[in-house]
Amino acid sequence: MSIDHVSKYKFNIGDSVLYGTDTITTQKKIGDLKDVFQNEGERSTMNQESIVYSVSLLQPVKAGTIGGLFIGTSIIEQGQVDKEYYMTKGHFHQNTSSSEFYWGTHGSGMVLMMKQDRSFHIEHMSPGSIHFIPAETAHRVINTGNEKLIFNACWPADAGYDYDTIYNEGFSCRIFNHNGSPTIIETDKR
Ligand SMILES: [Fe+2]
Repeated sequence: MSIDHVSKYKFNIGDSVLYGTDTITTQKKIGDLKDVFQNEGERSTMNQESIVYSVSLLQPVKAGTIGGLFIGTSIIEQGQVDKEYYMTKGHFHQNTSSSEFYWGTHGSGMVLMMKQDRSFHIEHMSPGSIHFIPAETAHRVINTGNEKLIFNACWPADAGYDYDTIYNEGFSCRIFNHNGSPTIIETDKR
């Protein structure tokens, strides 16, 4: 028997972020998000180096491992492109039977979930909220608050990511700041 007194992975309560020796961190800047927001003209004139969101990811097993799990922390900065709130690109899972958990730890926002028939529903995210994303459901998180939004996620290591469907077809709604209130606007296509 052996006991590890120091876990390889750590969740920092202070800033609600995961750390670990094998953490991979990626950032998405304004310059990486071409055609993601409705007002592409506005996005193209903004500071391309400005960070919209970052993801720190722990992968204890290789991608594609059946039965494995990944865990990650996402931080979405507070901001807008024109009146559209900063948000993640969003994706379906390549392995369409894969589901996922999100849980909020800081700030407030919305989890947008869209089925393949483009029907959607939205859940409010706040510290302590838990969101189950079922199979065959695209998911995106939008920071509708006035500070950083931090959330964590756990998903199967063999889920994979299908970003192309969302890139080509978009979600069926967008969320804008109208006079200080988040307003959901249904869209046919982006
Ligand atoms: Fe996912």
